[in-house]
Amino acid sequence: MAGKTPNSRAPESEVDSMFTDRWSPRAFLSDPLPEQQIKSLFEAARWAPSCFNEQPWLFVYATQPEKREQLVSTLVPKNQRWAAKCPLLMFALARKNFGQGDRENRHAPFDTGAAWFSLALQARRLGLYAHAMAGFNIEKAYEVLGISKDEYHVMAAIAVGRKDESAEELPEDIRAMESPNTRKMPSEVATDIFPLSG
Ligand SMILES: Cc1cc2nc3c(=O)[nH]c(=O)nc-3n(C[C@H](O)[C@H](O)[C@H](O)COP(=O)(O)O)c2cc1C
Repeated sequence: MAGKTPNSRAPESEVDSMFTDRWSPRAFLSDPLPEQQIKSLFEAARWAPSCFNEQPWLFVYATQPEKREQLVSTLVPKNQRWAAKCPLLMFALARKNFGQGDRENRHAPFDTGAAWFSLALQARRLGLYAHAMAGFNIEKAYEVLGISKDEYHVMAAIAVGRKDESAEELPEDIRAMESPNTRKMPSEVATDIFPLSG
């Protein structure tokens, strides 16, 4: 299509704007979020589908400054520089085993991904943004959260808040990254040609 480049951000087919309106900003306002909004985020996550309806996710969150600082201390410095401002920080955990804990649930990370994305879409409905982070010290996260490696995967840290439209307070190097990301072309993410190898 004329003017289109690979990795374009323009939708290639019709899609609901709820998908394209979501992105991962780093300029957040520090204003606290109303309790109702926080509940609404976790309510959206609660309705995600899961293998055997196990609902293996657990969101451990902090809104109070001292508790947020504890979560921020687990992040890599680059994430600390923007995420420390966010009024709501959390970790998405996935329980490693089914029910009574004797059988591995290999689908738990997949299901926890569905729950996080439900939360992220609900955030947009509320006028908020959610930004996931893999940049954290995993050992420190287990320690700060007080959880066992036998029981949980630590899937991601997540920062939520209202976007600071001016982005003035962001450090310059981070401000340079403050725009929605591009996407691969449709043919790179879905194919009806298989087997893929051989
Ligand atoms: C699991 C996961 C880990 C991520 N880790 C980080 C991170 O540590 N720091 C960061 O600034 N962004 C992080 N991101 C944000 C991604 O870079 C972003 O989602 C991706 O570039 C697509 O852009 P978009 O969300 O703006 O559409 C992460 C996203 C996910 C889903």
